[in-house]
Amino acid sequence: SKKITIAIDGFSSTGKSTIAKQLAKELGYVYVDSGAMYRAMTLFAMNENFVSENHLNKNSLLENLDKATLHFQFNEALGFAEMYLNDVNVEKEIRTLEVSNLVSKIAAISEVRKKLVAIQKEIGKNKGVVMDGRDIGTVVFKDAELKLFMTSSAETRGKRRYDELIEKGDAVTYEAVLENVVERDRIDTTRDDSPLVKADDAIEIDNSDLTKEEQFEKVLKLANEKL
Ligand code: C5P
Repeated sequence: SKKITIAIDGFSSTGKSTIAKQLAKELGYVYVDSGAMYRAMTLFAMNENFVSENHLNKNSLLENLDKATLHFQFNEALGFAEMYLNDVNVEKEIRTLEVSNLVSKIAAISEVRKKLVAIQKEIGKNKGVVMDGRDIGTVVFKDAELKLFMTSSAETRGKRRYDELIEKGDAVTYEAVLENVVERDRIDTTRDDSPLVKADDAIEIDNSDLTKEEQFEKVLKLANEKL
């Protein structure tokens, strides 16, 4: 069967990465977490003091954009690729609530998007990829054979992200996590460059009332129809 491109977009914590990883594994495709790249750029900006809760030095960030090199490296034990910033594994650092609270500010900057979209297109140029994010079906891979748009209730999403962070030992409250999810969605849907929107040809999947197994079955069927 032929190799296709699968684009998965949607709001924060709708379970995009879970389904994307499952699909990639099943099809023998590469999974790419585009959000990890925006998170790594945010970590870079934080480390260089270009961004904090109450300031953003956009000019300095742009002048130093070339100093941030990003790459993914496959981790055999985990079964997926991990994010590296300037050759340092940053998987752990990019998943904190602190990064989550700043990432949408960084992701709204056009020059940042341009840099990351170029890398994403390069990774996907030979197809056989499942990429999740906010603009994959609308900007990065407009011609993807399968586009999914994931949704679920804000409560389901807040709970999902909260459980993830608690599992990792982060001392967060449910309220803080829910607030972050809602605020990120607000910024992501209202920005000028590549706002989060369902592509015309994307299939919407509301998973509020689906088990992980039901969801996977549904999505795998859609993928198989395209192969
Ligand atoms: O997917 P994840 O929740 O890790 O993404 C973190 C943030 O990165 C999003 O809230 C959004 O601001 C940004 N992002 C984006 N475009 C993508 C992927 C992520 O703007 N394709």
